[in-house]
Amino acid sequence: MRNYLIAGNWKMNKTPSEAAALAKEIVPMVKDADYRVMVAPSFVCIPAVIDAVKGSNIIVAAQNMANTEAGAFTGETSVLMLKDLGVEMVILGHSERRHIYGETNEIINEKVKLALANGITPVLCIGELLEEREAGKAEAVCYEQLEKGLAGVSEADLDNVVIAYEPVWAIGTGKTATPDDADAIHAACRKKIAELYSDAAAEKIVIQYGGSMNPGNVKNLMAMENIDGGLIGGASLKADSFGELANFNK
Ligand code: 13P
Repeated sequence: MRNYLIAGNWKMNKTPSEAAALAKEIVPMVKDADYRVMVAPSFVCIPAVIDAVKGSNIIVAAQNMANTEAGAFTGETSVLMLKDLGVEMVILGHSERRHIYGETNEIINEKVKLALANGITPVLCIGELLEEREAGKAEAVCYEQLEKGLAGVSEADLDNVVIAYEPVWAIGTGKTATPDDADAIHAACRKKIAELYSDAAAEKIVIQYGGSMNPGNVKNLMAMENIDGGLIGGASLKADSFGELANFNK
């Protein structure tokens, strides 16, 4: 069985003290979770959250990072800084980074390789826009984002990569992909990984679903063969609902 990952992407919400308080509330709620649990606060909240979850089973992630290690890049945050803080995972290529800040597949690929080189697990986000879905291009968009996002990543390194399929039209809209629709794209992505790497790599890789996942729909989504976790925005901002999500199988 794949190593499921239930993750909260807090986006640009919570001040450091609010983030630490939320993290402390979450700790006891997820301590008996059967699967991996991750939270991704904003950069300035990371130290407070790491401190708040010390000794727990919660993995702390960043929501982004620069595509170079150091230098004159005003406003950017380096993988070395994240590593030094004890960050274990990093969300890369989120649709908000792609579509609001213009991140390309090439930039995202540089970040993926930099994270891997520094022992941080990238969560590579992929997903189509509504117009791309309506034009029948959902799979093609995901294939391209996968292939370009993973360019130059070895099969050994792929073990440390998580994929998150987040259809852009389902993010923050309350519109969830149906479990069948989501599973169909997850299965297609797995097939693409088999083509790019091997059947064994495709079988192993963790593919999370993201887009209006909540305590009411998590069970049906997680029951699908190819869905191995959730990348959750809105419903991860309250300890109760995140606790329910992390314990979806109980
Ligand atoms: P919502 O759960 O708010 O739709 O956000 C999903 C997401 O973008 C997680 O990265």
